[in-house]
Amino acid sequence: MQINQHFNELAQSYLFSTVGSRAAAYAAAHPGQKVIRMGIGDVTLPLPGPIIDALHAAVEEMAHKDTFRGYGPDGGYGFLREAIAGYYARRGVGLAPEEIFVSDGAKSDIANILDLFGPDNTVLVPDPVYPVYLDTNVMAGHKVLLARATEENGFLPMPSPGLSADIVYLCSPNNPTGAAYTRAQLAEWVAWANREDAVILYDAAYECFIRDEGLARSIFEVEGARSCAIEFCSFSKIAGFTGTRCGYTVVPAGLERGGMKLAPMWLRRQTTKYNGAPYIVQRAAAAVLTPEGMAAIQQNLGYYRKNAQVLAEALAAAGITYYGGTNSPYLWMKCPGGMGSWEFFDWLLEHAQVVGTPGEGFGECGKGWFRLTAFGGAEETAEAAARMQAALAAFNG
Ligand code: MLT
Repeated sequence: MQINQHFNELAQSYLFSTVGSRAAAYAAAHPGQKVIRMGIGDVTLPLPGPIIDALHAAVEEMAHKDTFRGYGPDGGYGFLREAIAGYYARRGVGLAPEEIFVSDGAKSDIANILDLFGPDNTVLVPDPVYPVYLDTNVMAGHKVLLARATEENGFLPMPSPGLSADIVYLCSPNNPTGAAYTRAQLAEWVAWANREDAVILYDAAYECFIRDEGLARSIFEVEGARSCAIEFCSFSKIAGFTGTRCGYTVVPAGLERGGMKLAPMWLRRQTTKYNGAPYIVQRAAAAVLTPEGMAAIQQNLGYYRKNAQVLAEALAAAGITYYGGTNSPYLWMKCPGGMGSWEFFDWLLEHAQVVGTPGEGFGECGKGWFRLTAFGGAEETAEAAARMQAALAAFNG
């Protein structure tokens, strides 16, 4: 029997599981205290009316013989693939519905896409970044290079001279730092990838938070991206689907490496190992992209943006260096007094009963940094912000 020894190279548990269990242990040991959780970036607002209506209607269809649905079509229902293509078209990006593959979320697609590539590739992963990229490549025993994302480069690594890699992950707006690439910066990555015959795996899960004009919401806004990039996106953050589960991956029809087209490979992979997101969920997702759905979710996004502002103001008032929170739901703050990330995690629980995510959990370059999420309830966020501001002011003396 051979076992995948690469699991020994992983941290003992997934970052957000560790954060969750440490917060739960603190809460259990301090039953009188109200702990405010701002660790995992999980949404808190309920699904808006137009989406719930579509969900109810689809459930009703499942109750009748002539409208009941079993297995769905490969790659997702046409109505949703077309609606997603329309969402991109409104932003000036032309995609064929057949290039859009519906799934249960970006996280699983980001992990599963590795099935398309051989075992001996060199993979470039930003540091810090969403831990799924690194963990899945460690599990597969791939050679990983890290691209440092630091205060000096605005947390946006660029292709360095002589950089050689086969696969590159980019996440913009970035989780955890909140930094987002401009179109001009992405054009540099695209030119590099086309030159090197590399593939960019572009995570756009937070694109809906972008408001600044010069920033890209899709890598396909950049010329040349269709011959080097795959994009992952999700309804989780735009529409509160973290529990409902729906996402999609865009693989351009012409994207080819090693003499093979990646879009049919992805379809082959998905149809072999996965039976698709539920019909009712795909109906709900399609409702997000209607004018009524988009209007409703804009209200929710506005609510989370306000939370980000409240947190930003508290950090600024406490004299803390922070980034993000404008084109992103995440704030990336420097731990005070040179504290380490996990040290500050414990300190913040102890002094403000607020849970955040230690930057170190996203990579070595996250050491000494800490992530806060704006996805909480408005009242809780305001309370957390006030508690943090008071605790940090006392700390700074
Ligand atoms: C996060 O907190 O980084 C995200 O919620 C994780 C995810 O989207 O899977």
